[in-house]
Parts: sequence; C-alpha cells; structure tokens
Amino acid sequence: MTKPQIWVAIFLLLFIVLFILGRITKEEEVLKKIPNTDVPVDSEQGSTDYLSGEELFGVFECVGCHGTDLKGTAKGPALSNLAQFWSKQKLISYLRNPDSFMGSERFKKYREKYPAQIMPGFDNKDVKDLGKIADYLLGK
Ligand code: HEC
Repeated sequence: MTKPQIWVAIFLLLFIVLFILGRITKEEEVLKKIPNTDVPVDSEQGSTDYLSGEELFGVFECVGCHGTDLKGTAKGPALSNLAQFWSKQKLISYLRNPDSFMGSERFKKYREKYPAQIMPGFDNKDVKDLGKIADYLLGK
C-alpha cells in the first residue's frame, strides 16, 4: 500500500468505529426513556378489582358530598338505613341514573335541602363496582 492509501484506510476505520459507538449510546438513551417497567400491573390505574365497596366510595368521591362514615355534609344527605328504601338492583339503577328517581316525596325534600347540589349519575362506572358500593351502603 502507498502512504495515501494507508491514511485513507485509517480514516475509514476511525469512521466505522465512531459510527458503531454512536449507535450503541443511542440505544442506551432509548432504553432509559422507557418508564419504570417493573411496576406491578395491579397498581396501574384502571383495575378496581381489589377495592372494597367502602374504598370505592372514597375513590369515586362520594365522600366529598356524603361525608366520612356516611354522615352527610352540606352538599349531600347522610346515607343510613338505605335498606328500607332500596333493593340492591334498584340502588345500582339509582347510582347509574339518579334523575329517573327524583319524583318521590323523599327526593323532593332533598331538592329543598340541597338546592345547589344534585346527585351525579355514575353510568360511566363498572356495574360490578356500583354493586360493591350498593352492598356496602345497604349493609350500613
Ligand atoms: C356532588 C355531590 C354528590 C356526590 C359526588 C355524590 N352524591 Fe349521592 N347524593 C347527593 C345529593 C344532593 C343527594 C340527594 C338527592 C338529590 O337531591 O339529588 C344524593 C343522594 C344519594 C343517595 C340516595 C339517598 C337516599 O336517601 O336514598 C345515594 C344512595 C347516594 N347519593 C349515593 C352516592 C354514591 C354511592 C356516590 C358516589 C358513587 C354519590 N352518592 C356521590 C350528592 C352527591
């Protein structure tokens, strides 16, 4: 090989080495960007299977209006002795669509007592979860 040929070969080699190094560090960066993958699936939001009715009552923010220990607040009534008014099925239907139960005397009184609040509908929630809440409320 002539001298210029040796120089060209050295440059080519250097170029290849730098190129490979560049690829390796890039891959590491990509791996770093993937968020913590060892979080257990259960703690991901979305699964409510492991929550009790009482816990769901907190998670769905019923507590904000109905208070801790179901004692009621200025925004919503206490929830006690519900078993005398509701079957489980009826209570689930109520939670999904409270508007359709507004007609009764009891509810007219609620309208006077809590004029600024109405019970929101929870038809976006899993019926299974509403069933757990119903069991919890009917057991109180
Ligand atoms: C924004 C406040 C608010 C939130 C949040 C709320 N409620 Fe209510 N709830 C009310 C009000 C006010 C009433 C009384 C009826 C009415 O006027 O709409 C009521 C009524 C009820 C009743 C009927 C009580 C009876 O005497 O039969 C049940 C049961 C109930 N809520 C359960 C729940 C559950 C379970 C949640 C959560 C999934 C919840 N509420 C979330 C305000 C709220």
